[in-house]
Amino acid sequence: MRVLIVGNGGREHALAWKLLQSPQVQQVVCVPGNGGTATLDRCSNLALSLDDFEGIARFALVNNISLVVVGPEVPLSQGITDFLTEQTLAVFGPTREGAQIESSKAWAKALMQEAGIPTAQAEVFTSAEAAKAYVRRQGAPIVIKADGLAAGKGVTVASTVEAAEAAIDDCFEGQFGSAGYRVVVEECLIGQEVSILAVTDGLTIRPLLPAQDHKRIGDGDTGENTGGMGAYAPAAIVTPALMARIQTEILDPTIATLRDRAIDYRGILYAGLMITPEGDPKVIEFNCRFGDPEAQAILPLLETPLEKLLFACTQQKLEQFPPLEWKSGAAACVVIASEGYPGSFKKGLPIAGIEQAEMTGAVVFHAGTQRKHQILVSDGGRVLGVTAVGENLEQAIAQAYEAIESIQFEGMYYRRDIGYRVRTVSSTQN
Ligand code: AMP
Ligand code: GLY
Repeated sequence: MRVLIVGNGGREHALAWKLLQSPQVQQVVCVPGNGGTATLDRCSNLALSLDDFEGIARFALVNNISLVVVGPEVPLSQGITDFLTEQTLAVFGPTREGAQIESSKAWAKALMQEAGIPTAQAEVFTSAEAAKAYVRRQGAPIVIKADGLAAGKGVTVASTVEAAEAAIDDCFEGQFGSAGYRVVVEECLIGQEVSILAVTDGLTIRPLLPAQDHKRIGDGDTGENTGGMGAYAPAAIVTPALMARIQTEILDPTIATLRDRAIDYRGILYAGLMITPEGDPKVIEFNCRFGDPEAQAILPLLETPLEKLLFACTQQKLEQFPPLEWKSGAAACVVIASEGYPGSFKKGLPIAGIEQAEMTGAVVFHAGTQRKHQILVSDGGRVLGVTAVGENLEQAIAQAYEAIESIQFEGMYYRRDIGYRVRTVSSTQN
């Protein structure tokens, strides 16, 4: 099997790495890929832009690509799957209509309300005045969300009415372009967040191991929101009983409602959940793709051949697919970012020590890196995801941090407390 992966982040490096563990996968091509995918055995990068659907289709057809896996939400929301499927390619990733579950928060909220899926109470507004009047009636804390894709920056959890009003102004004054001209104002949920990534062929849906991300830049979940600074799996807070509820209360009704709307959804449904203090799962958001860095923590634990699973989804054969098999133990991924991220940062800084880091048994997934004249340099906000598998989470975390000791680049930054919720719980129990 030859597989083409669309994207260039840590998630795509992890997908390529996992796919290549299967002897059935002859070749992986990443469009455009990064400094990590460039050096994997049997893997190469193809320098096309993510919106060059025609170029991607032509390459895939000429090179007998049997499976296309789309990483990021932007090409999905622009219809890459619709385009490539029309050219007879097998694509893992939803169509443009299906991707609205991530690309329009108002659309997703309406779907949840129609399906009776537990989620924060919300109203949608197309005028700043009406949104602010609602905020004044509801009071704070309250959450303001730009409707469209805003590169992870469109959500404000406002602790005062004034902050909520300012966030509404930002949206309607064009801070997020047209993504902000419609705003969802919603109830602020409290609890612990978990990421449930599930594979679906549009008929059947099956969860992968539950994971937990760390979205804020600073230790102890402080500071600005980011794309994600570290993740681990499995997340123990999701017991088998809770996972069964997530399946019947959230995953199954979402797929059933998509089907009712005649939406052909074959890919990942990622449910970002809040587990409330009462232990109930509520949806914060849906994404239409693998989480990043959640994928880097989940995929190393998967025993089932990934290409078979993803291909079965594209063929609507998930129901007949054998139960997913997982390694025992746990995995942790610690993200190393550029100084200044999620604000502005320098690029092009040489990176050293990855080979030594991998000698500890860890795997270093590249996110924003590039090879320039054989030298590996930084090329983004999130640069590397250092991932380790251990017999338990403590071991996995310790190993990831040990591996990081060998890595150097100017201004590198990482959180020191990945997995702290679990570590706090187990140390109090001991
Ligand atoms: P999103 O861009 O939808 O992932 O939201 C970013 C972050 O904002 C989430 O990971 C949560 O931490 C927070 N958030 C979003 N919606 C809510 C909500 N209704 N209540 C509390 N926190 C929220
Ligand atoms: N790690 C959060 C996301 O992928 O959206």
